[in-house]
Amino acid sequence: MDAAHFFGDRVPALLATHGALLNGHVVCTFKIAGDGGGEWTLDLRSVPPVCTPGGSASSLLTIETDNSSFEQILADQRLLVDMYYRGQLKLSGNFATFKQVGDILTLLASPPRADIGLSHLMAPLEPTRFLRDYWPNKHVVVHGDPARLQSLSDLPILQSARTFLETWPGLVFAFPPGSGDEFDAPRVTAKEALVLFERGCALNVSNVEAHVPVLRTYLDNLVRDLGLPASVHMRCLCYLTPAGAGASPHFDQNANFVVQLTGEKIWHVAPNRQVTNPTARHAMSFPEPYAELLFQATGPFPTEMPADAETITLVPGSVLFVPNSMWHATTSNGPSLSLNFTFDQPNWADLVCEALRRRLVWDPKWRELATNANLALDEDRKILAQTHVAALLKEVPRVLGQLHAGQIVNMFPKPKPDDTVDLKRSWSELLTAK
Ligand SMILES: [Fe+2]
Repeated sequence: MDAAHFFGDRVPALLATHGALLNGHVVCTFKIAGDGGGEWTLDLRSVPPVCTPGGSASSLLTIETDNSSFEQILADQRLLVDMYYRGQLKLSGNFATFKQVGDILTLLASPPRADIGLSHLMAPLEPTRFLRDYWPNKHVVVHGDPARLQSLSDLPILQSARTFLETWPGLVFAFPPGSGDEFDAPRVTAKEALVLFERGCALNVSNVEAHVPVLRTYLDNLVRDLGLPASVHMRCLCYLTPAGAGASPHFDQNANFVVQLTGEKIWHVAPNRQVTNPTARHAMSFPEPYAELLFQATGPFPTEMPADAETITLVPGSVLFVPNSMWHATTSNGPSLSLNFTFDQPNWADLVCEALRRRLVWDPKWRELATNANLALDEDRKILAQTHVAALLKEVPRVLGQLHAGQIVNMFPKPKPDDTVDLKRSWSELLTAK
């Protein structure tokens, strides 16, 4: 989309519907050279915000570039800073607002078309009922109206496995039918993945939200609705599965909301009787479980799906909540595309250990380099480390006694994206010098 179309049509239309979300103090003029270019001022101070042709005396920042570069920025807003350093973009005015302009362009380029959260995802199941009866340990499937998920199913990249692979800029995990596990798979380019998909390989892609920013909004909404700590590791995964392919039996340590977008997929799910709230995943094809699971499991893991496994067919509009620890295996009836909202689940041990660590490192002796704590060293050196740790451990009960539950549950703010961009550095000259 060229700048004229973006600022002339799209932005005014978006401001009319989403303006309230964007009100702030940024007033920015864009001078875009070449065909499809022009000059516009985006004024978010105005109530409602407006985008008007021409410059403005109240503009805080002016961004100058050519239309070809601007189109690239619209496709991937993370290029904004990179282009500045490479001299493809000129700035004048208040540099401090530059990062916010990037965030605003991100919203304008892919605005949330519906506020997808728990109520949309699990409809017709009421969120209060989901939270009371299922979350976080009991699976449930809903087969709601696909229209409720239109803001997902309308995303161009999510139209089909082919459109996904034709658009996806990153690498893709590919695994053939009957392979041991989805994570025991090579990563290939999207172009190679398309060939493998047509030859029957299942594909999976992680961190889809990195290239589809609106998904970050939906992940944030779900973190809020589910009451997860703001520090939770969240991501979107896409599963592109041809007929007959799928995942071998395994369980995960995270919570998954599986949204079936196209095609049909058969899920076999069964309760896990060996471990509750595991901190690692395990596939039945693994030669042995991760070491930490050996201390958590009450017995050996099965090598085939339990006899009481339930079969669930997902069709477009279906959403399946798969809690951690639940055994599952999948097969696709035909080409299938599904999107997972996945949340690693910080447990109480994580929160308390992090709080303790933050308190201990107030003291320089806890910040000392941990030397000699290495299995490969000789006994004398390891004893030095053991003696040192034994002395430190004596302090732990006192420090633990200083921690308060109120502090611990409030001490994990949402990780902030890196917004300390130093535009005054001379990278631009270094990178563009002949
Ligand atoms: Fe899984």
